[in-house]
This record gives sequence, C-alpha cells and structure tokens, in this order.
Amino acid sequence: MTTIDLPLLPLGKGTDLSAERGVECPGDLPAASDPDLVARAEAAKAALGEKVFVLGHHYQRDEVIQFADVTGDSFKLARDAAARPDAEYIVFCGVHFMAESADILTSPDQKVILPDLAAGCSMADMARLAQVEDAWDALVDAGVADQVVPITYMNSSADIKAFCGKHDGAVCTSSNADVALEWAFAQKPDAKVLFFPDQHLGRNTAVLKLGYSLEDCVVWNPLKPNGGLTAEELRAAKMILWKGHCSVHGRFSADVVDELRATIPDVQILVHPECAHEVVLKADLVGSTEFIINTIEAAPAGSSWAIGTELNLVKRLANAHPDKNIAFLDKTVCYCSTMNRIDLPHLVWALESLVEGNVVNQIEVDGETERWAKVALQRMLDLPGRSHKD
Ligand code: 13P
Ligand code: SF4
Repeated sequence: MTTIDLPLLPLGKGTDLSAERGVECPGDLPAASDPDLVARAEAAKAALGEKVFVLGHHYQRDEVIQFADVTGDSFKLARDAAARPDAEYIVFCGVHFMAESADILTSPDQKVILPDLAAGCSMADMARLAQVEDAWDALVDAGVADQVVPITYMNSSADIKAFCGKHDGAVCTSSNADVALEWAFAQKPDAKVLFFPDQHLGRNTAVLKLGYSLEDCVVWNPLKPNGGLTAEELRAAKMILWKGHCSVHGRFSADVVDELRATIPDVQILVHPECAHEVVLKADLVGSTEFIINTIEAAPAGSSWAIGTELNLVKRLANAHPDKNIAFLDKTVCYCSTMNRIDLPHLVWALESLVEGNVVNQIEVDGETERWAKVALQRMLDLPGRSHKD
C-alpha cells in the first residue's frame, strides 16, 4: 500500500497506523458532558483489576492522570511498562511513539492501547525513515559513515529506532541524553553523532553537558539537497543535528526569561532541554519532566519558579505546591495538542471496550522493526545510570 508522505500532523485524518500522524478513532465515544465519566472509568478499571496497567505521561490532562497507575517521563514509563509482564493490557496515556516503545519492550501476549490514535507527536514526525536513509547515504558519500553513531531521541517512530539499532546506535531520552552521547562518542575513534529528531536536545546536551562548541554542531535539513551541507562540513562536524523541534517548547523565548527575572524577585528558571539553546543558556536548571517535578518538590516554601514545559504539568505543579510561587514561562496558553487528545471520554471508551473483550486502538510494531528497535532501546536501558534522580 502506498501512503502519502505528509510532512505534518493532520490530526485524525491520516490512515497510516505506523506513523505519528494519527488516524481517526473507531467506535462511539461517550459524550464529554456525561457526568458519570469518572464513575465509569473507576468501574471499568476495577472490573479489569490486575489485567490492566495504566501509564500516564506528565503532560496528560488531570482528568486522565488521576487514573494512571504510574506517571513518569518517557524514560521512566518505558522502564515501568517493561516491568509489568503480568498485565495483559497496557493502556498508554501519552503519545504514539511512547506506546510503540511500550509494545517493543513488553511481551508479545501483552497488548498496548493508545486511547486516541490521533495522539502523535509533530516532532517525531519530522524525521521519516526515508529521509534518515537519505542522510545516511550522504554520510557514506562524504566518507564519514564509518565514524557516525546514530542516536535517536525517544520521540521518534519505531522504524527510526530500528535504524539506530541496525547501525550500532541507541535511543536516548531527555533524562539520559548526556550519558547516551558520552557512550556514542566512545564507540569509535574520532566518532561523530547523527542526532535526531530534536536539534535542541542534541545541541543543548553536546554543548552544555559534554563541552563541545556550537561550531562542532551542524544542522541537517532533510528538506534540502544533501541536508543543506557540504561534504567538508559533514567531515568537520562532531554533532550532526537533525532539523526537528518541539512546537510546544519552541514557544519559550529568552526575552520572556529576561522579563520574568525583572518582575519576579529571585525567580529561578527551570526548563526542559527541548527549549532553544538561547533559552536554556538563560535558565538556572534544565531537565526532563521527572527532573522538573523532583526539583519543585525539593524546593523550599516561598521560592519562586518560572517553568518552561507543557502547561498541564506546570498547572499541576502550581496546584500541588501552593506554598511556592510557580509561573509559566510563556505569556500565552501552551498545551501539547496531541497529548491533549487523550481525554476522559477516550480513556473510558478504551477501558470499557476492554471490559467487553474488545481490544481497541492496539499499537503493534511489526516483528522486524521491533527486533532492531529493541536493540537500540535496550542499549539505552543498559546505559550506566542517568543524569537525574528518578
Ligand atoms: P520527557 O517526559 O521524557 O522529559 O519528554 C518530554 C516530551 O516532550 C515528551 O513528549
Ligand atoms: Fe511531541 Fe513536543 Fe508534544 Fe512532546 S510536547 S509530544 S515533543 S509535540
């Protein structure tokens, strides 16, 4: 079957189940106005008992996160999914690439369910396998492919992870990107890293954690011939960064950091490493969603924070810590629209369908892709430690 290779995420209009672009959900969803939704979710979860394990990413809505058995960042959720071999159904309240990773890391008889198939990730969609293969061919032509270790951010489709597995590379998340890059640079003499899809995480980690310079980094633009780079530039680079980004974290700006520092006394700026380099440079602390939560939990009462990450998480932190002054690092509302696709009606529909014996919205990675993606994921899980505390 030929699929049209659309560049971005037309929500709920796609047909390609293996992509991040999302497809329409089958079935009759309960109305969002149904006053019994909470009771229905509780009843369905109770009926399923130990058979179901609900995972919730920190960017999920409050109405959904209340039903999660565990919450976490991408790394923790991947580990948590792998640690529950007894659960027949893994309901993943997050986005498509996370559910794929859970399917890869769980046994073949466990079923991973994404309550809304339109919950993709626009960043993950910015690196397509055919584009990555073209980039690799260019590295071969430039005579550097033997030096290159591909590292993909967790926020990528399973076939990209499989590409990394096949080419002696690995997966990383925002909580272990530094350890993954150190590992990659130690794999080969005069190693280079091809890092995708998030140029910001790659640049921030290479420059601020590993001490490379901005001149060591080049940006590969998949929409330009030869990535917009000469063979000489590829030969000189240490970090070849894919031109991808998160549209949510791309909203935070260095100007607003300056404004908040001027208006909130002693404010500390805490951001996710998907933010642009100039924002991260101005921040006090940088880390994954789990790191952000741990930092706020450990902060003294009365301290002031401006947080640059998705709004559901920032609002939840502000509500949970009324003794701390917590502001959002953007002037306007900034949710991740695809994370928000998972709402209570979709969760109720998925759980009730399971109670009736219907497995809906199952995410299944094909065997060959799974085999190689698991190699890359396992290399990540085997990395020594991680940079932030769980
Ligand atoms: P972490 O939860 O791993 O920090 O990732 C953030 C994110 O953007 C997930 O999509
Ligand atoms: Fe993707 Fe950004 Fe949303 Fe995370 S926050 S799922 S990277 S679009």
